[in-house]
Amino acid sequence: MSYRVNMAVTPEVEPFFDEASNTISYVVRDPGSDACAVIDSVMDIDYAAGRIAYDHADRMIGFIRENGLDLEWLIETHVHADHLSAAPYIQSKLGGRLGIGRNITLVQETFGKIFNEGTEFQRDGSQFDRLFDDGDRYRIGGMECFAIHTPGHTPACMTHVIGDAAFVGDTLFMPDGGSARADFPGGDAGELYDSIQKLLDMPEEMRLFMCHDYGPNGREIRWETTVGAEKAHNIHVGGGTSREDFVKFRTERDASLAMPRLILPSLQVNMRAGELPPADETGKRFLKVPLNEL
Ligand SMILES: [Fe+2]
Repeated sequence: MSYRVNMAVTPEVEPFFDEASNTISYVVRDPGSDACAVIDSVMDIDYAAGRIAYDHADRMIGFIRENGLDLEWLIETHVHADHLSAAPYIQSKLGGRLGIGRNITLVQETFGKIFNEGTEFQRDGSQFDRLFDDGDRYRIGGMECFAIHTPGHTPACMTHVIGDAAFVGDTLFMPDGGSARADFPGGDAGELYDSIQKLLDMPEEMRLFMCHDYGPNGREIRWETTVGAEKAHNIHVGGGTSREDFVKFRTERDASLAMPRLILPSLQVNMRAGELPPADETGKRFLKVPLNEL
């Protein structure tokens, strides 16, 4: 698969950092029209209290409204395990189409079982408006965009390339952050290495936007780098690290990591495209905590 990159298109990228989950959500604007997209939005949750809120999403909605933008797409780079998506909330206010990678169906199959969801939980991705395959193209205003299948962190991970900007999800972190874990169900360190190589094959000046940053070694939070910088300096894959060395390192590191604090609520909501589980006969909604399943 060769991807048709157009470095002459330079979208305007507005980041929205969520301190609770170290996630960076983005509004991506077409400089030639009012069209925009939202990438990887966040719903706030106080897990201990079982309370959700939409402060982060409301900041994005406010930005889109204040700038008179027209929301065409809501993109999820993958099924996040560390924060809940606010995509349906934003979509209900501003419209737009919600898209994710085709392999969402694998994630729905796996976690549908783990949460013992009934047959009313569809495992065919039909909660989304669009399921992207590798190389699929779409438009944001006048900008032609495409998705690259970049599995490894999860089987449904996609990188979205919009002009000279690529939104990599958790396929890469900043050069001093390295890479994301590959040990979730359906994850694979070797596949992650191969996916990262696809990204490093793009033009060196391509801007890369991270989904997460944890400010390693006390530095300030950052989210933007380039293919060239990752290729030269990424502490896990830069300087021509071999596949074998990467897989060994990643596998050993992952074995030492605890589960993300919000994995159980995140998966239950995100596998439903960000919708909450259905209400019971009293109108209340509940999240499950399956024991000894992860
Ligand atoms: Fe992730």
